[in-house]
Amino acid sequence: MNSHSATAQASPNIAFIKYWGNRDSALRLPVNGSISMNLDGLFTRTSVSFQPSLALDELVINGRQVGGKGLERVSGILDLVRQAAGIAFRAEVVSENNFPTGAGIASSASAFAALALAATRAAGLEWPESAVSRLARLGSGSASRSIPSGFVEWKMGQADDDSVAVSIAPPEHWDLADCVAIVSSGHKATGSTEGHALAPTSPLQGARVADAPRRLELCRRAVLERDFNALAAIIELDSDMMHAVMMTSQPQLFYWKPATLAVMESVRSWRNDGLPVAYTIDAGPNVHVICPQAEMAQVAALMREIPGVLDVLQARVGGPARLV
Ligand code: DP6
Repeated sequence: MNSHSATAQASPNIAFIKYWGNRDSALRLPVNGSISMNLDGLFTRTSVSFQPSLALDELVINGRQVGGKGLERVSGILDLVRQAAGIAFRAEVVSENNFPTGAGIASSASAFAALALAATRAAGLEWPESAVSRLARLGSGSASRSIPSGFVEWKMGQADDDSVAVSIAPPEHWDLADCVAIVSSGHKATGSTEGHALAPTSPLQGARVADAPRRLELCRRAVLERDFNALAAIIELDSDMMHAVMMTSQPQLFYWKPATLAVMESVRSWRNDGLPVAYTIDAGPNVHVICPQAEMAQVAALMREIPGVLDVLQARVGGPARLV
């Protein structure tokens, strides 16, 4: 019998076509498919160890013991693994991010991806990628996309077992980069889980969802054909549409700060001057600027000059979640 412990590492991802709203929030079945790119160099590393001596699951994130809602969410995933493997042991989960929490990079995607892979292996399960992606999805929707490699599509699917993410191209397919403008390191007012629940209160959500298959097709094609202009147009539209839904939800979710808009305007003007750049924004004020790797250093330097930009993180295209 194996040792009942395993360690896995996963990268966060940036969505090109966003996940916003669930048709089943308990199962995290989304109202639309989504497409993303994994972020190389940034990762969560998580060890899971099932131990007969433990009375309860234990969770340590970046050296701090975590209880309450955070622990419950992790225990929910561990329960599914225990059930599938037929074990009753509680687990010790130790997790570290190599990127600053509160830097506006969502850590739930890399965290639940690393947890799903480490927990299944620790329990002796050797699941195919799709099954691990489904398990990660149950912890955090976007985590499903941090299991496969490179450029990834999360298919909305028909049900729990086929709402999973698959790689549409490996990292080396297209030398893109993400330069993240950190404009605020404060904690977000409303987290994604609460945000998804508000999506249907916006009168614009229906239009956003109805048009999603078209945007997914345009984005998939832009990635497969390495067409930067097409990618820029579709990811900015998709991000703007999601934020329009957020801004018109009840209660309203307004994530932008003045510096958010300043970066968006700079990106538009650099592109008019011939620089290949495009913005996309998640559930927070920081702006992800996508560009070819050849332009990454120049773009990051330009971004640092914008008043209100506190820092710029840079990432290339990342691989799959893996055991370490
Ligand atoms: C705006 O995956 O963080 O980043 O399933 O509740 O954990 P939960 O939500 P989460 O939502 C991500 C929202 C987004 C868009 C995206 O990444 O697709």
